Amino acid sequence: MTILEVLSAAAGYLKDHAVDSPRLNAEHLLAHVLGMKRLGLYLEFDRPLADIERRRLRSLVRDRGAGKPLQHLLGTAEFVGRSFLSDKRALIPRPETEQLVELFLRDPRSQRAGTKVLDVGTGSGVIAITLALQLPQAVVRGTDISCEALSLARENASRHSLNGKIISAEADLFPPGDDVFDCVIANLPYIASDEIRALQREVRHDPLVALDGGPDGLRLVSRLIECAAARLAPDGLLALEIGHQQAGRVLPRLAARGYREIAVHKDYQNVERFVWASAPEPSEAGENCSDTASKKGYLSPCD
Ligand SMILES: C[S@@+](CC[C@H](N)C(=O)[O-])C[C@H]1O[C@@H](n2cnc3c(N)ncnc32)[C@H](O)[C@@H]1O
Repeated sequence: MTILEVLSAAAGYLKDHAVDSPRLNAEHLLAHVLGMKRLGLYLEFDRPLADIERRRLRSLVRDRGAGKPLQHLLGTAEFVGRSFLSDKRALIPRPETEQLVELFLRDPRSQRAGTKVLDVGTGSGVIAITLALQLPQAVVRGTDISCEALSLARENASRHSLNGKIISAEADLFPPGDDVFDCVIANLPYIASDEIRALQREVRHDPLVALDGGPDGLRLVSRLIECAAARLAPDGLLALEIGHQQAGRVLPRLAARGYREIAVHKDYQNVERFVWASAPEPSEAGENCSDTASKKGYLSPCD
């Protein structure tokens, strides 16, 4: 069979197994098997495939049809035009989060020389790494409660030649100590616990700790709002990604905590997805989350 014939058959199989964009998925998987760029397939439609290539593709297509995410099969995910390692250790980066980063880069506070940025819940490291690459003058740190995610974040930092440049540490939200940050950016888990079962089968391949936002979805976001008040520099920026229909509950919490210049931005689906706020007056600072003892016991300690 030729590349074109195999692609049609694979796309048909994926369509029958309820995979969105079946042809595109088939193209990505075949390009992966052949070690070429996806668009390169178009130049070789008539090339016959070797048995071994067809066998490798068949196995990937079967896994994709069973709901394994494309990014896990490829081992990589794209984020703001760069390629990152992606596997079950951390959440697959989402397109909305690319927009969070784009909005963040438009805020003048991200552009100041020496600005200190903390990416809370860094996961695969895509936010921190993208920011470190785009803002070479910034000092970027990341935290995560998951050792597995941190190990992937470190591999990704090394993939982008940033070893030692981004300090990523195990922490419950904020690193121990009382360092303050000019900007805190976070895409924390925000799905209500009882909604997780109903999610798309692909999403269930993401770690639970990356999804579960507690009974109302806002357990971590609320704690972050509380603790960031004491960990932001004067006029510091808090930039958050939240779930749809959560803005109405998040904005009052920010206001009650004394944050200023609170704003909400919509994503490309017209969903109120991103919340921006400036640090409260220093007199409002309270708990600073430097105590990691409240770690919830999802995972064993990092090596
Ligand atoms: C939705 S994922 C986002 C990952 C990555 N920032 C991204 O946007 O692709 C949330 C991340 O927060 C981490 N997390 C959950 N609870 C945490 C906590 N208490 N402190 C720090 N990180 C936490 C999870 O392990 C996960 O990596």
